[in-house]
Amino acid sequence: MAKKGMNRVSAARRTALEQQSMIGQKMNFAAAEAYKLLRTNVMFSFLGADECRILGVTSSFQGEGKSLTSINLAYTFAEAGKDILLIEGDMRLPTMAARLAMAGKPGLSNVLVGTDSMSKSVQEYDAIEEGRAASFDVLVSGDIPPTPSELLGSSQMSAFLVKMKEQYDVIILDLPPVEAVSDAIVASRLVDGMIVVVRAGHTVRGGLTDTMRQLKLAGAHILGFVFNGAASVGGGKYYKKGYYSSDYYGGYQT
Ligand SMILES: Nc1ncnc2c1ncn2[C@@H]1O[C@H](COP(=O)(O)OP(=O)(O)OP(=O)(O)O)[C@@H](O)[C@H]1O
Ligand SMILES: [Mg+2]
Repeated sequence: MAKKGMNRVSAARRTALEQQSMIGQKMNFAAAEAYKLLRTNVMFSFLGADECRILGVTSSFQGEGKSLTSINLAYTFAEAGKDILLIEGDMRLPTMAARLAMAGKPGLSNVLVGTDSMSKSVQEYDAIEEGRAASFDVLVSGDIPPTPSELLGSSQMSAFLVKMKEQYDVIILDLPPVEAVSDAIVASRLVDGMIVVVRAGHTVRGGLTDTMRQLKLAGAHILGFVFNGAASVGGGKYYKKGYYSSDYYGGYQT
């Protein structure tokens, strides 16, 4: 969705970053297929719903691949022709701007407090010149606010999402880890479904159990899990991504 005044990332800079960041077309085949399967399952879970859906992405701990999953999910939906808004809902430790070679502000916090408009703050990530159209809009987190969870839970945030739902097919909200701060729990009432990232060799069972308990208590609709970092047949040498399709919708629906 092209918007006025949008900040476009140069192709060369983006390609360099994609190589480092394992996103977009730099995903290996197995990872790309896993994301397509995830996209399909998410679409099935929203079958019959015409309006925009909001997906939250969280995990138990830091560094499990929430942001990477959010970006690649946005890319994969965009590849399927959907109008996507990726929001960096982690207003504490932002990584999206550096990863996507975008300006770090203005962003979500600035829009919510009213210092900047959405049209001035939204940036576009696109891969059109690489042969396939897979552009999506990104709203980075912006200036770090004093109380991020309050801002996420504010009426401004709810009103902002209502407005954004009119413009996009899917909104992806990249969130902080549940075991670290309350933000993802606060945000769970804003999203239609939550995806929980589990990283091989990183997520501990007790942490995940507690995360699920907290999300369920908050009434979150758990769509399923992304198992990040699993060895996959034919995967690239440094990036392997697996995805538990068989367990995807098992047991945790609320
Ligand atoms: N499957 C993987 N293989 C190799 N590196 C990975 C994999 N998944 C994530 N990483 C790397 O691990 C780091 C953390 O990933 P990412 O930022 O996506 O995690 P996060 O859960 O969003 O972290 P945070 O909790 O800090 O927001 C990044 O440097 C990312 O490139
Ligand atoms: Mg992150």
